[in-house]
This record gives sequence, C-alpha cells and structure tokens, in this order.
Amino acid sequence: MKNAPSLRSVAITGTGKYVPERILTNEDLRQMVDTSDEWITTRTGIKKRRIAAANEATSDLASAAARQALENADVAAADLDLIVVGTVTPDMAFPATACFVQKELGATKATCFDVSGACSGFLYGLEIARGYIASGMAEKALVIGADKLSGIIDWTDRNTCVLFGDGAGAAVLEAAKDGGGEVVSTYSGSDGSLDEILNVPAGGSRCPLTSENVDSKLNTMKMAGREVYRHAVTTMVSAAKEAITRAGLTPKDIACFIPHQANLRIIETIAHKLDMPMERFFVNLTEYGNTSAAAVAIALDEAQRSGRIKRGDYILMVVFGGGLTWASSVIRW
Ligand code: ACO
Repeated sequence: MKNAPSLRSVAITGTGKYVPERILTNEDLRQMVDTSDEWITTRTGIKKRRIAAANEATSDLASAAARQALENADVAAADLDLIVVGTVTPDMAFPATACFVQKELGATKATCFDVSGACSGFLYGLEIARGYIASGMAEKALVIGADKLSGIIDWTDRNTCVLFGDGAGAAVLEAAKDGGGEVVSTYSGSDGSLDEILNVPAGGSRCPLTSENVDSKLNTMKMAGREVYRHAVTTMVSAAKEAITRAGLTPKDIACFIPHQANLRIIETIAHKLDMPMERFFVNLTEYGNTSAAAVAIALDEAQRSGRIKRGDYILMVVFGGGLTWASSVIRW
C-alpha cells in the first residue's frame, strides 16, 4: 500500500485495552498436553495467557478496550464516524463484530465493519482509518484489534495451544492538532500464496462446518511453525524498514519498537537484524501470549500508560499474520 497522501495529519488521541480475567499458565498447559514450562519459555518466552469466559464474545473484549480508549481520548461514542475491528474470531459471520461494538457503545452515527487481516488486523484498521480521516471522510474513528483465539485452538495440539491467548486493544484516531500521537507513516502488504502455512480450514464457504469436519478439528488453527517463523522475521524486518523510511527516519530514531507479540526469539532476531538493542523493544508476550490482532494494540496501550513512551518519541509498530499479511506504522507520540 502506498503511503497516504498528506491531505491532513491524523493522530492517535487515546488508547485502551482489555484482557479476560482467567489466567492459563505454562504449568496448567503441562497438565493438558505433553509440554513443559522449560520448553515453552525457551522456545517462545511465553509464561501466561488470558482466556475469555464462555459467555464473553470478541465484541465484549473489544467494547471494554474501546471504552478505555474513548475515555483516554475524551471522545464520546456518539461522535464516532467510523468503527473498524480487526479480528479473525468475529462474534458471527455477520453482523460485523464492529456493529456489535457500536450497539454496546451507542455509537449511533458510525459506519462499522471488520477487517480480516489475522494478526495484522489492528494496523490494517489503523491505515484504513487514517485514510478516512486524512481525506476528510471522517473526523473521529475507533480502531480495535480483538480476538478470542481460544475458541479456534485445538487444545490437544501442543504445537499451537501453548502460543495463543485472548484480548483486545483499541485506539481513537482524529485529525492531528498539537497534542502528539501523529501517524507519520503506514505500510501494509499481503501474500495470498502462503495461505497454507497458517489457517483455519473449515467454517467458511470452502469447507463448511459439518460434524465430520468438526470431529477432524478442521475448525481449529493449523500452523507450519517453522515456516511461519521464517516469514515472520523476513516480513517484519522489511516492513519495519519501509515504515521508517517513509517517515524519513532511520532505525536509530525510533525510541520504542512495538512488534507483534508472537515469540520472543522472533523479536530478538528482528532487533539483531535492525542492529537495535532489545531495550528499545516493548515485550509483554510473557504475560499474554500471542493475542493476534489485539497484540500490538494492547502493547501500545501498556507502553503509553506505563510511561515507556513519551511525548515526542518516535515509535514503530510492526506486525505479521495469517494470509500472510504484514503492516507497520511510525507514530510521533
Ligand atoms: N512442548 C514440547 N515440545 C513441543 C511443543 C510443546 N508445546 N511444540 C512442539 N514441540 C516439539 C515438536 O514436536 C518437535 O519435536 P520433534 O523434534 O520430536 O519433532 C520439537 O518440539 C521442535 O519443534 P519445532 O517446530 O522445530 O520448534 P521451534 O523451535 O520451531 O518452535 C514454534 C516452534 C514456537 C511454534 C516456532 O516455530 C514459532 O514460534 N513459530 C512462529 C509461530 C507464530 O508466530 N505463529 C503466529 C502466527 S500469527 C497469526 O496470524 C495467528
């Protein structure tokens, strides 16, 4: 995707997050599948993840994160023109999860739709909302990354079940004034030829849900871990460089890198390839595992609320996900 023409600057004016109460530890997983805390920690860095309650839908996670972001931005839900939810675990095939969020928040004048970009969903949504506001089509937008991956995981497959968790992160976007948060650059891309290394085969039109398909667990996530790992490193390094170049910067100018929270080893390799110290990278996958579209949005919220990022800092978000998809953005906080 080309960089948005600079019609008018757009800023993130508030962020929020929500994670479910229930914590699933590596020790809990050891009692479910043939794994160990040692294996999970050394291969991924993950210690815990949050699991949504059975009656908690993706829109519930999303709405809770959205409320925090609206409060942080001091924006009323009724004033939103646009709600975009990045998710691969929608409440239903339709209506869009964004419509459920609209109903929950009372955002009556907003146009609402979902984006299916897997883990890239939040940054895809950010780029879309930026375009709407830059062009004057919208004044105030809410972008959410939310996933309840626990519902599409095969809890008997140790290759995947140790990696993921549930959560939501949100950001409010408005035309930039002088309050910081300016979206300086965005970049995104996809490679549909790599569909087979990460997908959920059944549940769509290609392979509808039947009792046989469910018995064969075709409605759960399938992943070729090593292949995904390899592509994750390559695409995130090049996407990071692209957003930084589009912002007219070099990696040394970035005060805080916020990468997709999939695997600590992937993040360490990216840091090495960008010749940047790990101290510049924000990492919270230890606590939450990989929350898909929510991951960078949750991390952004935690980075700003903890004071890890300060007014005027350049920060970089970079993600990859099933599709494959990838995206990146530089923000002047
Ligand atoms: N516990 C113990 N052993 C395990 C586990 C586990 N949880 N999982 C796999 N193993 C075993 C394997 O069976 C294999 O055993 P074998 O050698 O006897 O066959 C051995 O450990 C090594 O397996 P590898 O796959 O080579 O392990 P690797 O070091 O590559 O780590 C991992 C696997 C963590 C999945 C890694 O490849 C990875 O992180 N890949 C990227 C995954 C990712 O980021 N996915 C998110 C995509 S984003 C989205 O859109 C959802």
